[in-house]
Amino acid sequence: MPTPLIAGNWKMNGLLGESIERVGALAARVAAEPPHCDIAVCPPATLLRPVADALNNSAIALGGQDCHAAQAGAHTGDVSAEMLADAGCRYVIVGHSERRSDHGESDALVRSKAAAAHSAGLVAVVCLGESEAQRDAGEALAVVERQLAGSLPASVSAADTVIAYEPVWAIGTGRTASLDEIAEVHAHLRRLLCGRLGEEGRDLRLLYGGSVKPANAAGILAADEVNGALVGGASLAVDDFWAICRSCP
Ligand code: PGA
Repeated sequence: MPTPLIAGNWKMNGLLGESIERVGALAARVAAEPPHCDIAVCPPATLLRPVADALNNSAIALGGQDCHAAQAGAHTGDVSAEMLADAGCRYVIVGHSERRSDHGESDALVRSKAAAAHSAGLVAVVCLGESEAQRDAGEALAVVERQLAGSLPASVSAADTVIAYEPVWAIGTGRTASLDEIAEVHAHLRRLLCGRLGEEGRDLRLLYGGSVKPANAAGILAADEVNGALVGGASLAVDDFWAICRSCP
């Protein structure tokens, strides 16, 4: 069983002072009581360097929320994977549903971003998940299968990639997928990963994301084939995020 990963996706939230306080408080708890999981925080790009400095000597890793597929060049407003690594990141989220919907990102683009992450030595956290309409139409498994096939680059391995299953209808809505729904999708993804990577497919971490909070974390994190969580809203409150980290079996 891979070590679970709890990753906090701060999205477009956080100014300097409060953010440094937040990671300082989290780092103190991790140092005092090491949890049974790896932990990462993914702040907005403006906070990467100061958060990296604040996390120096901490077991908490740093992640970016997105990267461009190119290494450098004329891409106003974008950040490359190499820049994220340079700022102290170990992870980068790619293909989050908010990027897919707000910026029209396709599976092919997500795949090239994941490949860029790997070239820069980062672990790509590749997000996928069906919309509410797709679930209601009984298409959830087919959708995630298509996204998985389209979003993973040839360079994928258990060491350089994490998959986050995030049903779009559960993100920021307070509505979590049921344990049966999560288990069904995760089992399907695991079968597909083992089909592609053989035995190594068992070691690739499969996270669940979508309204994970202290009250539901223990059940989700104990579900079959769930190796951690991608946490949005609840990652902005240290008590809540820490409670989720402590819920890892
Ligand atoms: P949420 O977000 O926990 O606020 O639902 C999860 C995510 O978007 O990664």
